[in-house]
Amino acid sequence: MSVKSNVPTPHIEARAGEIAETILLPGDPLRAKYIAENFLSDVKQFNSVRNMFGYTGTYEGRPVSVMGTGMGCPSMGIYSYELIHFYGVKNLIRVGTAGSIHPDVHIRDLVFGIGACTTSNFPALMELPGVFAPVCSFELLRKGVEKAEQMDLRYKVGNILSSDMFYGPAEGPEASKKWASMGVLAIEMEAAALYTNAAFGNARALTVLTISDHLLTGETTSAEERQNSFTDMMQVALSLA
Ligand code: HPA
Repeated sequence: MSVKSNVPTPHIEARAGEIAETILLPGDPLRAKYIAENFLSDVKQFNSVRNMFGYTGTYEGRPVSVMGTGMGCPSMGIYSYELIHFYGVKNLIRVGTAGSIHPDVHIRDLVFGIGACTTSNFPALMELPGVFAPVCSFELLRKGVEKAEQMDLRYKVGNILSSDMFYGPAEGPEASKKWASMGVLAIEMEAAALYTNAAFGNARALTVLTISDHLLTGETTSAEERQNSFTDMMQVALSLA
């Protein structure tokens, strides 16, 4: 895939070469700022368009970028497309939170999304002659799982659901139980678009999630627990750079 030189793009004001080949993608731009300030060295901000902050720095001497994506498949679709096709980004790692819908997946667990089912129309818009299955990069997944094993973290690898609805029937207990009956572990909102764009752009993608709430049991995390599991997830994600 050749890198087009017509940067900046409508949504990213970085110049060519300012974004690393590996990028971490939290939904929240302030999370991106936090990651840059607390985990990276030699940080330079490359984006503030729409306050979707993006930064490049180094982690253990290796260049890595981090940028917010916003919420939902359309927003993830725009940023991941521009990163891949206009900035030549090769490894895109979504780091986020998700709601568990599975009895075996608990609060604070790390979940690697091997595939992303979706209620979004995003993959269908690729106009393939059948149903596309959005999947992660095996290479990134294998490295991420190895790191989680080394760190002795509680993790699961499986199918996730990228939902287009946060409030409403598609997110309710009945719908969640149906997805869980097919082995789907957790609900988030962006992985299907990321995996679809990575496939189309010949890039690698992975989604790493921490479980922030349990949609069937009503369990939630305290701020401290969220922070600890977030730090674990960052160590896993940054090891992929
Ligand atoms: N639904 C969708 N996305 C989420 C959720 C949820 O319940 N929890 C965290 N991200």
